[in-house]
Amino acid sequence: MEQRYLEIDEWKIIEEGWDSNNHMKSESIFSIGNGRMGQRANFEEAYSGDTLQGSYIAGVYYPDKTKVGWWKNGYPEYFAKVLNSVNWIGIDIEIAEQSLDLAQVKVSNFRRELDMQHGLLSRSFSAEFADGKKVKVETQRFLSLVKDEVGAISYSITPLNFDGKVIIKPYLDFDVENHDANWEEKFWAPVDEKVAAQKGTVTAKTKKLDFHVSAAMRFEVFAQGEHVTLYPETEQREKYVANSVELQMEQGKTYTICKYAGITSSMNYAVEKLSTTADERASQAMRTGYDKLLEEHKAAWLEKWSTSDIVIEGDAAAQQAIRFNIFHLFQTFTGVDPRLNIGPKGFTGEKYGGSTYWDTEAYCLPFYLSTTQQEVSRNLLIYRYKHLGKAIENAQKLGFKNGAALYPMVTMNGEECHNEWEITFEEIHRNGAIAYAIFNYVRHTLDRDYLADYGFEVLLGISRFWAQRVNWSEAKGKYVMLGVTGPNEYENNVNNNYYTNKMASWTMSYTLTVVDYLKENHADRYAELVKKTNFDEKAEMEEWADIISNLHIPIDEERQVLLQQDGFLDKDLRSADSLDASERPINQHWSWDRILRSCFIKQADVLQGLYFFEHQYDKATIRRNFDFYEPMTVHESSLSPCVHVILASRIGYGEKAYELYLRTARLDLDDYNREVHEGLHITSMAGTWMSVVQGFGGMKIIKEKLHFEPLLPENWDSLNFTLRWREAVLNVSIDKKNLTVENTSESTAEFVFGPHTNQLKGGKKIVLPLAP
Ligand code: BGC
Repeated sequence: MEQRYLEIDEWKIIEEGWDSNNHMKSESIFSIGNGRMGQRANFEEAYSGDTLQGSYIAGVYYPDKTKVGWWKNGYPEYFAKVLNSVNWIGIDIEIAEQSLDLAQVKVSNFRRELDMQHGLLSRSFSAEFADGKKVKVETQRFLSLVKDEVGAISYSITPLNFDGKVIIKPYLDFDVENHDANWEEKFWAPVDEKVAAQKGTVTAKTKKLDFHVSAAMRFEVFAQGEHVTLYPETEQREKYVANSVELQMEQGKTYTICKYAGITSSMNYAVEKLSTTADERASQAMRTGYDKLLEEHKAAWLEKWSTSDIVIEGDAAAQQAIRFNIFHLFQTFTGVDPRLNIGPKGFTGEKYGGSTYWDTEAYCLPFYLSTTQQEVSRNLLIYRYKHLGKAIENAQKLGFKNGAALYPMVTMNGEECHNEWEITFEEIHRNGAIAYAIFNYVRHTLDRDYLADYGFEVLLGISRFWAQRVNWSEAKGKYVMLGVTGPNEYENNVNNNYYTNKMASWTMSYTLTVVDYLKENHADRYAELVKKTNFDEKAEMEEWADIISNLHIPIDEERQVLLQQDGFLDKDLRSADSLDASERPINQHWSWDRILRSCFIKQADVLQGLYFFEHQYDKATIRRNFDFYEPMTVHESSLSPCVHVILASRIGYGEKAYELYLRTARLDLDDYNREVHEGLHITSMAGTWMSVVQGFGGMKIIKEKLHFEPLLPENWDSLNFTLRWREAVLNVSIDKKNLTVENTSESTAEFVFGPHTNQLKGGKKIVLPLAP
């Protein structure tokens, strides 16, 4: 059920009126980020109400010692935690010895706004203290997209009914903690603090792994726009520095503090340089000035939108939602650094450890492939290439050999950190998504050199894994894959999960074609790779070919549907509609054993396979499987509805597609799952993008050609999206009558619509009538 409390606006997220019950939700929803770091919408001033403080730096994590009830051999020693890091936003305000704290004062005219077009968070309110003094406060802040180690805040106070002393105290505080710490331990140890008038730095390091982070602040104060000369008092203690500035404020006049933070980490600099570099970043920012910094930041956001925006006419809620999703994806990952990736909660909360899941390859990659320069997606792939050694070690640990690779379910540095046997050891389909991502990247970009440079080694490791993971069943006269968990985590330890078997045989056959390609086109490099990987070409390829032809794929001959796993038909097959509303979500109301025995499906599983391999199945097959599985799917993973939207659109189920779309698009904005206070579902936001562009927009790639097969929701007047397609940038519009494609670049692009292939020169536009 939706819980809407935010206003609908096409470019903004707006919260009107103060209700402390919504604050933690808003802290997630109004988060800002620039790919290098992120910050929940915590208040600058003190706040004694419920809050989840969150300031995150990409790639900086803590290996928190594993906590499990029953240890199983092969479990990882730690779970990587995304770290709540330095509080750089803090500005305490004190008026006549009373602290400005929204939990302690009377608040009126509260408004919080996230301007997604320009990446700017702002807030305004009036506060009345116990002694009757009233102030008006207006704040703004952003994390610069241009200078990604810089954050800036403008914080203005206007006394409304008094003249008098106000103390403003900007500070940096590294004495922070993670709510999800396994052993109630603080993760940061102090290194160094320095403070002087109008500046300060704090450095801390993680107690394990020695990540060092420095934060520096500079600030200036204006009265009615005029610089004020300051005589601050400084304060310093372990992990904390502050400046206190006493101002004699006059009623009706506005006093603004601009605070600039520079944040650097040992991922990018030698430890000895960290704190001076952070200070340089902050002081450069102050020299540039708040307005100019903001201007360049805004321009960078507009540039991002120019190749990624989606315009929906006729449905303002859907319009706001899709921009919200695109905005947060770009805040989380900009693609400049191949060491970084996309955690399911991005920089908006602690849950899921902020690490990499198969979500990146299966859901996020398509978004970045279509909206950003090729390098961004390439960097996402290289991330896994760099972890290949660890994936091989991981497989070895579980008993595999000869270079077989099992990528982790959850990781920060390539090591597995997930610790539930049914997922860690069994949810091995993740390997398939990593192989599929290589195929997806190559069919989008035609960058086949990637296969020679990096792709083949990953494909080989994964194919070797699959070849060892299956076994020959005498009883079936087929190869089988036993004891797996498919994407549907409401089934564990099943045999022959269609999706996993399909991913396995597909990976092996793709690897075979890649070998042929390399032999023909990169003979020298191929010879080098054969040596490097001890690839026994003949024996291994023959083995794969044998498995591909003889792998058991479960199917129900009578209904002609693919079976999620062996024995699926023994279940009490019923529709999720038969569940009482009070039982849903079942994962909060049913015992685990009941869930496992039921037919209910957490997330797309067979249908995930049909989505990936749409080009191999006809529409009738897709429809039969959709009709069979959709009614049993409870969509209790946010990653689920998008795949169903896409398939429903393909088979003409417009209403169903739209109904499912609503669940994904406004999942966080309307807090469907009542958990938005923990953070946003960043990776499923990419699924929302897929629903719009690949579902309603009908964009798909078949045999390396771009196709459109749109199905506009009834209540939308039109849909418009921008795509990067190889060298070209295409603006695609769909209304009730036509598909219009405009090539806004200089390069010619080709696409298929209906039976025709269209060549579209740079600068040209084509209008094609939709079939009635
Ligand atoms: C889903 C997984 C997903 C993970 C992180 C789980 O609930 O079942 O498929 O990888 O969340 O988003």
